[in-house]
Amino acid sequence: MKVLGINSSARKDGNTAILIYKVFEALNTSGIETELVQFAGTVIAPCKACWACKNQGNCVHGQDGFREVFRKMKEADGILLGSPVYSANVSANMQALLERAAVAGDMNPGLFKHKVGAAVAAARRWRFAGHRYHEPLFPEP
Ligand SMILES: Cc1cc2nc3c(=O)[nH]c(=O)nc-3n(C[C@H](O)[C@H](O)[C@H](O)COP(=O)(O)O)c2cc1C
Repeated sequence: MKVLGINSSARKDGNTAILIYKVFEALNTSGIETELVQFAGTVIAPCKACWACKNQGNCVHGQDGFREVFRKMKEADGILLGSPVYSANVSANMQALLERAAVAGDMNPGLFKHKVGAAVAAARRWRFAGHRYHEPLFPEP
């Protein structure tokens, strides 16, 4: 049994990776194999809404790392999505992964049948670019 972790942070081995490794520790203790993919330094392109993935088993656009990650997602028994909070959302790379994986999964039914999914999110360093993340970005007047 194997769980694939996907770290969509721009920072390799940062806070999101620490959270993923915490989950991996528990999984490994239970004898479950783990693998981590980190997007740092790479760009996952968004979905082109071309629907060309229908019955292809994967996205047909291979100019980035998506196809390889999607192949690993299909092989894994469990998928652990990890994202830092960027602008009160998942990272752009995670958003792109979700767009393409959801469409490829929809166009190729059954690829994710019986898989287990979970997610971790890392947020709020004390200060970032001078802003305190415990304060609202856009305070009420
Ligand atoms: C572009 C950008 C936007 C961010 N937006 C938020 C935010 O909206 N809320 C928050 O709590 N932290 C925000 N952060 C801080 C990160 O979520 C936080 O530092 C996280 O722990 C980083 O994880 P990492 O080390 O895996 O990259 C932002 C960081 C970046 C680079």
